[in-house]
Amino acid sequence: MIIHGGAPLRGTVRISGSKNATLPIMMASLLTAEPLKLRNVPRLRDVETSLGLLRGLGASAEWTGEHEVTLQAANITSHDAPYELVKTMRASFCVLGPLLARTGRARVSTPGGCAIGARPVNLHIAGMRALGARIQIRHGYVEAHVDHKLEGGRIWLDNPSVGATENIMMAAVLAHGHTTIENAAREPEVQELARALTAMGAHIRGSGTHVIEIEGGQKLHGAEHEIIADRIEAGSIMAAAAITGGEVEIPNAPTHQLEAVIVKLREAGVYVQANGDGVMVAREGKIKPVELRTLPYPGFPTDLQAQMMAVLTQAHGTSVITETIFENRFMHALELMRMGADILMKGPTAVVRGPAKLLGAPVMATDLRASMSLIVAALGAENTTEISRVYHLDRGYEALDKKLAALGAQIERVKEEV
Ligand code: UD1
Repeated sequence: MIIHGGAPLRGTVRISGSKNATLPIMMASLLTAEPLKLRNVPRLRDVETSLGLLRGLGASAEWTGEHEVTLQAANITSHDAPYELVKTMRASFCVLGPLLARTGRARVSTPGGCAIGARPVNLHIAGMRALGARIQIRHGYVEAHVDHKLEGGRIWLDNPSVGATENIMMAAVLAHGHTTIENAAREPEVQELARALTAMGAHIRGSGTHVIEIEGGQKLHGAEHEIIADRIEAGSIMAAAAITGGEVEIPNAPTHQLEAVIVKLREAGVYVQANGDGVMVAREGKIKPVELRTLPYPGFPTDLQAQMMAVLTQAHGTSVITETIFENRFMHALELMRMGADILMKGPTAVVRGPAKLLGAPVMATDLRASMSLIVAALGAENTTEISRVYHLDRGYEALDKKLAALGAQIERVKEEV
């Protein structure tokens, strides 16, 4: 991706459906033999990976419209989620719960490390065990089976993991009896999965709170479900508007899910008008330094930390960012420093001194959100930045280059040299 920085972004852009809501709901199609039709599905590499994963398990999984997929697991013919898939997309691990609940067996690769930290799956496994599954970890795979049927149970999560909450919820809806998940994740994507499962006939209460109650054992049926807008894509474009100045309207931004982000942007001197669904972001004056910590929802999302760091390189003063969710999520800082940012890292904290003069440079994307932070920085930099490994971006942002170009960004996708 080649970006000539400095142009203020102006205009209106609509954001796509939420990646993190879509992926687990796709896995939920394994819980019934009937079709699940999803609308407002973003065209992303992770969605393609999930379609491939479901097909590999014997389901039919197809695009049936520009942003619509229809998934049907009439018969499940395999119980394996192979390493090749799980290592490229950690969310594949969320087939464990549905496979186990529907068929009594699952063999799912452990995800291994990734660029943002260790990301273990111990809480997913503890959850399945609490529902009566027998689990062994052999040859890098989690091998799970259940003698008769999963039984409801009481699960307290050490930390409110999004993936573990989703995986356990999907197993529990087919388990016999009552399940309680305590210290559950409250993220909007968890609430979305609960809504989709409810449309399929599940009985779930308390999603969006720390305690989720599931009355299991209902026979699930087919359903149609529309995916919510992507709060992280909205926040990313808000960050791009903040660094370049100008004025950008996002009419379908889920503003009520972005409160922590809006508070921090306003503290940074950015004008944000939020009304119902939709935001307008504008900046004329200087960016001010802020302190922020990433936290589980409704705190500031870790998935927007990198983009906000890019904005804060331009603040007039010293900002302090503390990452509390993932232990190694400052890879983008090293690349931002190559562009001229002044960042000091100490453990989970980054001290960002600004305003630094950002100059275009060849930089490399290391993960999905890191690649977005480099784009934000490049839009605010003088002259030209060349970002390689943009395939990370295509995992999670639909047609981002086209959307930014429509707002006036000078951005061009060229073939990457191998
Ligand atoms: C999801 C999101 C990801 C986001 C993250 C945190 C999807 C597809 N991905 O990832 O974009 O950055 O939530 O908001 O929705 N942990 C354990 N043991 C476990 C599971 C997690 O210790 O078994 C830890 C992780 O190492 C991490 C923390 O819990 O420190 C949060 O991770 P989790 O919420 O599980 O993230 P994901 O579901 O993988």
